[in-house]
Amino acid sequence: MADHVIEVLDDAAAVARRGKDIFVEVVQAAHARNREVHIALAGGSSPKALYRLLAAQPGAVDWARVHLFVSDDRVVPMSDDRSNSGMVRQELLSADGTQKAHWHPVNADESADPDSVAREYEELIRREVPHDDTGLPAFDLIMLGMGSDRHTASLFPGKPALDEEDRLVVASPPGVLPPPVERVTFTFPLINSARTVLALTTGADKAEAFADVREQLGQQPSKTHVPAARVRPRSGKVIWVVDRAAAGS
Ligand code: 6PG
Repeated sequence: MADHVIEVLDDAAAVARRGKDIFVEVVQAAHARNREVHIALAGGSSPKALYRLLAAQPGAVDWARVHLFVSDDRVVPMSDDRSNSGMVRQELLSADGTQKAHWHPVNADESADPDSVAREYEELIRREVPHDDTGLPAFDLIMLGMGSDRHTASLFPGKPALDEEDRLVVASPPGVLPPPVERVTFTFPLINSARTVLALTTGADKAEAFADVREQLGQQPSKTHVPAARVRPRSGKVIWVVDRAAAGS
């Protein structure tokens, strides 16, 4: 099985619709096998429209059997505008129906020690998410975005978090991108244990970065300097859903 698929759609609205359909398919497939489903959501602007679509038709999914996490976040309280967990709560979990989901946010005071926040989140994941036969927690779905600097989650080019081999969640100090705040992030051992990764990216400002990712995906997985191209699930697949602007077409 190929470990990656690239889908190029007309625009950001089409990307959100397709992302929503993939989310629903993953949940329904797990439920058809009578399993609870474990999903890590992404921050950033690209998934927001997808969350709104899900919230608008909550009956598509049995939310009481869905466990939600975030694949990276800033070390701030959920009430802070910079919080990915806060964004998910507002855009997805404020609807009747979606509120039934089991919700595992990052919710920390800005003065909290980022390493402790990361360790606690990792422990929670190890406890809550079923393990695969290598002993690692395997999410049914991890959602990610990509920055124009080619970062994904909070795995920034040239930073130590990128090469982490043991820890599943680590602290990631502020990068060059705003806002300058401490973050915690899933690492590649956890991301690449997922059954499916859904990576969304839109807009012409991502075109150069996505061209690099596409080129690297055609090669053997390696420790490339392009963080987003290291998303190569070991026994699942990554689905890149991008618009024409990001695909440069
Ligand atoms: C975050 C994520 C980051 C994001 C990308 C893409 O900002 O919380 O850490 O990885 O997914 O920067 O962001 P956009 O979807 O806003 O382009």
